[in-house]
Amino acid sequence: MGLIYVVTGASQIFGAEFVKQLSERGDTVIACTYHPDQSEQLKALVNGKNVHAVAIDTTNLDSIEHATEQIQQLAPDGIDVLINNSGLLYNNESNESERIYRDRPASNYIEAFETHIGGTFNMTHALVPLLRNRTTRAIVNISSILTSMKEIKKEVSIYNNTSSDGETPENMLTRDFAIYLGDEDFVVFAMCPMIQEPSCSRISSTATNGWLKLSKKYDDDWIQPTPEQSIRGMLLIIDKHSKDLNGAYVSFEDENLPW
Ligand SMILES: NC(=O)c1ccc[n+]([C@@H]2O[C@H](COP(=O)([O-])OP(=O)(O)OC[C@H]3O[C@@H](n4cnc5c(N)ncnc54)[C@H](OP(=O)(O)O)[C@@H]3O)[C@@H](O)[C@H]2O)c1
Repeated sequence: MGLIYVVTGASQIFGAEFVKQLSERGDTVIACTYHPDQSEQLKALVNGKNVHAVAIDTTNLDSIEHATEQIQQLAPDGIDVLINNSGLLYNNESNESERIYRDRPASNYIEAFETHIGGTFNMTHALVPLLRNRTTRAIVNISSILTSMKEIKKEVSIYNNTSSDGETPENMLTRDFAIYLGDEDFVVFAMCPMIQEPSCSRISSTATNGWLKLSKKYDDDWIQPTPEQSIRGMLLIIDKHSKDLNGAYVSFEDENLPW
């Protein structure tokens, strides 16, 4: 019998791909997103059997409470894995960094912060009791290599976006929850899909390619994975997760990333 997953941000490329691959292999997925009715990709996957959609605003406590009740009804014996994948991106459309940084209102960052930190905190806080009912107890926060404070350099920071700036503190939240929940055999970790492409999220692929090639492994020959490949890799890691992964930050290929 398959496991029970809750996936947030399930309407777009990564979230919907998680839902697709998990459902195809027989797991049950509760697909949470702001606007489930507006995603043709998600609507095609919802079947009322092992794929269910739940509308939620992860930054709103009333919405979280209502959605948690629905999740409890769908999974009365608890859930196995929570994938915090929702995010908010205000992009540098023109890549003219200094102008964009000057022009972008602080409210963009605050909203991204609320989505990445507030949303991940709220979902985790609400669903830990359901995760405690089972032994898998995995929480995965989808992050990005663009959040790495160790690797940040001007050549790539010019491409950075509010999503990355929201995910950097989300990485800290991952560490906090890993410490707090580790004693109860939870495994909480951050993962980067290693993709950044216009079709995927309205951001220049040059940004990620430039960023990744600064690191030794990703030379000029390196080709970004497709979302299908990236999610498949991440699911392999989630499947074999052990205590060693608690508090880790890894790529879809299971290599440790610099914080
Ligand atoms: N795409 C990339 O290149 C890339 C690279 C590295 C990391 N990431 C991270 O991977 C994750 C998924 O990225 P993506 O590109 O597939 O998605 P995306 O285009 O950034 O879409 C964000 C998703 O989050 C949902 N969402 C946003 N605010 C929400 C809220 N308050 N409550 C509930 N749901 C909310 C959206 O819901 P609705 O559509 O229903 O409104 C949507 O499903 C994000 O965390 C992103 O930062 C992305």
